[in-house]
Amino acid sequence: MSIFAVMTIRENCSLAGRNTFGMDVKADRLIEFSSTEELKSILPGLERPVLMIGGGSNLLFTSDYRGTVLHSAITHIDVLGETEDCLHVRVGSGVIWDDFVAWCAVNGLWGVENLSAIPGEVGASAVQNIGAYGVEAKDVIDTVQTVCLDDCSERDFSHQECRYAYRQSVFKNELKGQYAVTYVIFILSKVPRPRLGYGSLEQEVERMGGPTLGNIRKAVIGIRESKLPDPKVLGNAGSFFMNPVITEQEFRVLRESYPNVPSYPAPGGNVKVPAGWLIEQAGWKGRSLGPAAVYERQALVLVNTGGATGADIIRLADTIIREVKEKFGITLSTEVNYI
Ligand code: EPU
Repeated sequence: MSIFAVMTIRENCSLAGRNTFGMDVKADRLIEFSSTEELKSILPGLERPVLMIGGGSNLLFTSDYRGTVLHSAITHIDVLGETEDCLHVRVGSGVIWDDFVAWCAVNGLWGVENLSAIPGEVGASAVQNIGAYGVEAKDVIDTVQTVCLDDCSERDFSHQECRYAYRQSVFKNELKGQYAVTYVIFILSKVPRPRLGYGSLEQEVERMGGPTLGNIRKAVIGIRESKLPDPKVLGNAGSFFMNPVITEQEFRVLRESYPNVPSYPAPGGNVKVPAGWLIEQAGWKGRSLGPAAVYERQALVLVNTGGATGADIIRLADTIIREVKEKFGITLSTEVNYI
């Protein structure tokens, strides 16, 4: 049924193609809106609970969703203004993230090239503060435009108000589930600003002939393809766990037993330890538990090897969390949201 020209409402709708784990679940109804006004007009009469989804690349459904799933079909990009060095662009929350990155590369705009090929949509990038190869979405986000799901008011969150940290924002914490993102305003650089400090990225880019936007994008895509499974082939949600942050004191103790433990500096003098390394050391890389498995080339990715349910994935995740805790005294937290 369609009550507006573009808005769509589907009852008893399958979500199988809308979550990258490939869970075969349904929602009571799915509504796609294509403007802020449309969203505001439908919210008052909506049957609750309401769940806003993006590309479903960070969700694990454990059962059918008894409520209304909302999805943004706002898919336009507008240039708001520019200075000598920068361009302000407003991007619809339903734009596929990597389409936006490709658009930036074609238009000579720097800032998101290291975030090439991350699955998902622009709205979720601002909720999740996606990150890769030394860059996070927060580095280029100026404002997040939203609609309050309770009272339909529009609210713009400044960068500061989003309270960004590693894979965290106010939308995942204090205000979880309360606002639907409609647009994200980014500030991009017209001046080249290559950031090649992470791992083998610089070598890869040099091999290709130097740090152009196109080369960086190509190198990042290549590195990702070599390590991360394609969700269209093998259901997964990227990193299932966050990299744990521990105190320097805890890290010193860990390094006494494991001198080769990799690490990165974290805010406040703390230390980030790769969850993939902990899981591999705990013996889980490439192993399965029923139809849920740890990806053989990157241990922090859990995969659906065929017909897994949310419960199968959670059983594997809980086993890993328990064993990593027993071995290292570190508690892993999930990056993926359980629904
Ligand atoms: N490592 C292992 N075994 C593994 C995986 C990793 O020992 O199976 C160790 C290696 O020492 C490696 C280090 O961990 O050098 C870091 O690995 P990698 O560069 O693959 O990065 P990561 O810390 O495992 C994070 C992000 C990824 C992002 C990469 C690159 C998180 C939770 N994950 O992974 O993000 O692509 O860095 O920047 O922070 C995602 O969020 O879905 C995602 C894929």
